[in-house]
Amino acid sequence: MQTETILILDFGGQYSQLIARRVRDDHVYCVILPYHTPLEQIRHGHYKGIILSGGPSSVYAPQAPRCADGVFQLGIPVLGICYGAQLMALLTGGEVTRQDKREYGQVTLHTKHKGHLLEDLPGESSCWMSHTDQIEQLPEGFTTLASTSTCPVAAMADEKRNLYAVQFHPEVEHTRYGQAILRRFLFDICHCRGDWQVETFVEDMIASLRRQIGHGRVLCAMSGGVDSSVAAFMVHQAVGHQLTCVFVDHGLLRKNEGDMVEQVFRERFKMNLIRVDAHDYFLSRLAGITDAEKKRKIIGESFIRVFEQEAERIGEIDYLVQGTIYPDVIESGSGDAAVIKSHHNVGGLPEQMSFKGLIEPLRYLFKDEVRKAGLAMGLPAELVWRQPFPGPGLAVRVMGAVTDEKLAVLREADAIFCEEIKAAGMERSVHQYFAVLTGASSVGVMGDERTYDQVVALRGVTTSDYMTADWARIPHDVLARVSSRIVNEVRHVNRVVYDITSKPPSTIEWE
Ligand code: XMP
Repeated sequence: MQTETILILDFGGQYSQLIARRVRDDHVYCVILPYHTPLEQIRHGHYKGIILSGGPSSVYAPQAPRCADGVFQLGIPVLGICYGAQLMALLTGGEVTRQDKREYGQVTLHTKHKGHLLEDLPGESSCWMSHTDQIEQLPEGFTTLASTSTCPVAAMADEKRNLYAVQFHPEVEHTRYGQAILRRFLFDICHCRGDWQVETFVEDMIASLRRQIGHGRVLCAMSGGVDSSVAAFMVHQAVGHQLTCVFVDHGLLRKNEGDMVEQVFRERFKMNLIRVDAHDYFLSRLAGITDAEKKRKIIGESFIRVFEQEAERIGEIDYLVQGTIYPDVIESGSGDAAVIKSHHNVGGLPEQMSFKGLIEPLRYLFKDEVRKAGLAMGLPAELVWRQPFPGPGLAVRVMGAVTDEKLAVLREADAIFCEEIKAAGMERSVHQYFAVLTGASSVGVMGDERTYDQVVALRGVTTSDYMTADWARIPHDVLARVSSRIVNEVRHVNRVVYDITSKPPSTIEWE
């Protein structure tokens, strides 16, 4: 049975991935492709429906992005959102105009005519708007479904042709009936079954990996992070000992993290895992380096060198496994071609190695689906639910030059913070939390003596996408416990501060 798929054509909107997440939440598989995807390719995809995303452009701008002519004549239901709605209006003969003032934020939506799309909406509900252009003149065959006080066509439909459009954003939480609208589109209009499950995806992927790899030998470079761990485990499920994992331990992981990875994969799941203790090599290459970007570069290169050396020892291989996930694929803009995940992570790919192909079992999954996949295959929750962690590890959380002594201080302080967050039952509500060795020293007093020691900063954020984040309102008594434990238990720290900046203007990491 063919997987039913919804196509999301991406016009560069900040919410495109969110649309995809919402669709998948309803157990309908979807893919995001660039707006200029050729009509033939769309036709061959046999999509059940098409969603046109929002985007920052004006439909009248000289280089305004447009989808292929003919998308509206394919006979496939289309839902245009924001820019996508305006484009649908323009390309089907309506009129779009620019307003003096931007309509932004949560506004009241008046439903005039429910049609199929707004079936669940009451007369008035709230929706999230963010636009300057708007549809002024309906295209022929369309009916207005809803409006706001300044936007006469906030939703429209031509039910005969299965074309639907909303000026507001049904994918964001602030649109009260947003998910209900998307559901009507998916199930009543596109007639999706909604039977897509990560678990079935995992089973199918394992079967297809088995076919693809045959008797070949596979190699995986593991940095210890969630993505490469889940990817490696999936390949192991498919071909067992044909897979060798090289876990390059750069000595920059959090307390006990390297041991946990080794314990789970080698001892518990009997995987072929080689842990290379490259801690001395990495630290010697990092000696005296204070610039964060330089540190990242050195760590990336060193990772590849160590991996290459190890791979040489292993001999000929056929395939290399990468933990690329769907947002990496989308961000590369390629939509489909093989992407090298060098961008954010240590790893990248060794240049001189020859192999038949790359294996990227997670390239169609979002991060939370990667976690679900890991759990479905039986990986322990504490491994799968680890927080995001920069590939270059603690090196970017030690401000200034990295040394063994500093790493030891940071590791202990970080472990205490993590323990206390866990003890307070906040490990899921605070999305990322860690300690930073600020590089500053300050005066303190311990017993009768003055001290001059290091300042540790605590960072805790809440976020849904890590692109923006707010500092977490961790209760004062939890912070007090963490602070007191750190200055008492970790030598060379006499002051603890809490970072209260959001992103933007700050970033989550200090670097
Ligand atoms: P920033 O500091 O840019 O970080 O606000 C956003 C998120 O990305 C994580 N991060 C990384 N993740 N490899 C990763 O896989 C990296 O090199 C890397 N650098 C930052 C960071 O922890 C935060 O969650």
